[in-house]
Amino acid sequence: MCGIVGYIGTEDARGIILNGLKRLEYRGYDSAGITLFNGDDDTFHVYKDKGRVAHLEEITDFSYRSVLGIGHTRWATHGVPNQINSHPQSSDSGRFFVVHNGVIDNYKELITSHLNESVFASDTDTEVIAHLIEKFSYRMSVSEAIRKTMSLLEGSYALAIIDTYNPYKLYACKNKSPLVIGVGDNGVVVASDVMACVGYSDKFVPLEDKTFVEIDGATYRIMDIIGKVVPHVEKPIDVDYFNIEKGEYSHFMLKEINEQPAVLRNIIGAYFDGDEVLLNGEIQQAIRDSDRLYIVAAGTSMNAGQIGRELFEKMAGIPTEVHIASEFAYNLPLLSKNPLFIFISQSGETADLRAVLVNIKAKGYRSLTITNVKTSTLAREADHFVEILAGPEIAVASTKAYTAQIAILAILAYGLSDKHINLRKELSKVAISMENIIDKRDYIDKLVKDYLTKRNCFYIGRGIDYYGCLESSLKLKEISYIQTEGFAAGELKHGTIALIEQDTPVIAIISQRAIAKNTRSNLNEVKSRGAKTLVIATRGVHEPDDQIVVDDVYELFSPMLTVVPAQFIAYYAALHRGYDIDKPRNLAKSVTVE
Ligand code: G6P
Repeated sequence: MCGIVGYIGTEDARGIILNGLKRLEYRGYDSAGITLFNGDDDTFHVYKDKGRVAHLEEITDFSYRSVLGIGHTRWATHGVPNQINSHPQSSDSGRFFVVHNGVIDNYKELITSHLNESVFASDTDTEVIAHLIEKFSYRMSVSEAIRKTMSLLEGSYALAIIDTYNPYKLYACKNKSPLVIGVGDNGVVVASDVMACVGYSDKFVPLEDKTFVEIDGATYRIMDIIGKVVPHVEKPIDVDYFNIEKGEYSHFMLKEINEQPAVLRNIIGAYFDGDEVLLNGEIQQAIRDSDRLYIVAAGTSMNAGQIGRELFEKMAGIPTEVHIASEFAYNLPLLSKNPLFIFISQSGETADLRAVLVNIKAKGYRSLTITNVKTSTLAREADHFVEILAGPEIAVASTKAYTAQIAILAILAYGLSDKHINLRKELSKVAISMENIIDKRDYIDKLVKDYLTKRNCFYIGRGIDYYGCLESSLKLKEISYIQTEGFAAGELKHGTIALIEQDTPVIAIISQRAIAKNTRSNLNEVKSRGAKTLVIATRGVHEPDDQIVVDDVYELFSPMLTVVPAQFIAYYAALHRGYDIDKPRNLAKSVTVE
């Protein structure tokens, strides 16, 4: 959470940083700020405030030339979002400016042990870092002062630092929070995500934990905490600029929902040779060698993991457990003898997952990451990784990454199954059926207008549809703020049915022949207590009054289809309420704090 961008070179730092911050706003958008060097009169200027990057742009002075700066978009952890708590934070005398992504766990102890005399302007943990650097800079070089500060910090940080005494240098360092440097002909960018570098850098270097980098406009030196130069490899930036723009769509979420058939076809193109699955043999072997799979994930990726468990157990007969990363990290269950850990993460950066990965690696267990970002920390640090090939997903509410994750899990499970279906054909059918739903989006829009009029809503389903309900309800609540829960349909009567009143919306997902009747009878139970019901059903099990009917596909793949109307339901509910669909309140797309 929080996005940082810094630049030093010969180009317009202000433009590069503001544009980079806009691209990183998915990481947090409570407040934003920038420190710029005015090359015309050798002065530094800070612009920062509560609010979005668009507001920061309005309050930034564009009248002078600037070739050095650092910027920040914030997701508040310490201190409410306001002008003073916005980054950059500065040191006692104002000599150093710092932008920070992460959380310093021991900042209070550091104040007591090192900064008793300091006066703090903000409530942030970040300000402590700026003060420490300044304090140490009185008796050592700036590079040493920053590395000395790093050695004291406990927690997570990606930092970009400016020393106002030296406008020819930019400094950065990291531990646990992601940070890359982008390298181009006209300067160097430091950023939380390579997306901020697209268009300005041709190559990038992902920094390792506990590394420090000293940059002048043309060159950079990466060091470890004691100042020893660390070898590194520059990688090409292959993100397509057009993929990170909205194009003709009013929102990224709408674009990303619509991209799902194309993503699925992309996956089929990459992971099949004819009807045969193309997968790294070592990955197949790692799954084969394990006696139990442990899927670890958060949010939407965890919901995809629940479908993954069904796929691994029902298609391939491999016992599988799914765990919430933040729980698993500090409450390890009894493990099997040969576990394989599967981390599912769109961003590949979620801190809770990283905590588990570090923990299980230390115990010598094997790991596989399924991610959309091949350069991410989780992709780099696991023994194996598989890319979901969904293309950049910008809207905070995840859509195409979910269906892509399920497709990849199906491919992994299929490799170890008795191959009783033609997977390529079945996935292609899903892609066509997704298009059929997308064509009906105006109809869903109208349905939502009359239907979702209350403050709450329930999704109910059984079996694999129950897991679909968890994802569908997450979509609706995160962007429309309607209090929505997904329930196993049969469980509703053990308590939650007490909440059903006249016109409470209840949406049922029904796609499995064997249990369709059971869900229908649960639906009748809520109907007879006044609920206003809506049904998303597959053709084979639908009834004449069902409002949304989707095509029949291989039953275990139906969540990839039934989620599409649910994504539209969430989208239109938020649109009708006038909410910021791509950046819902209090949320961030990449959760890099535990
Ligand atoms: C945040 C995002 C969700 C996402 C979750 C896990 O909560 O808002 O959309 O599902 O993090 O993120 P990951 O990148 O690990 O899939």
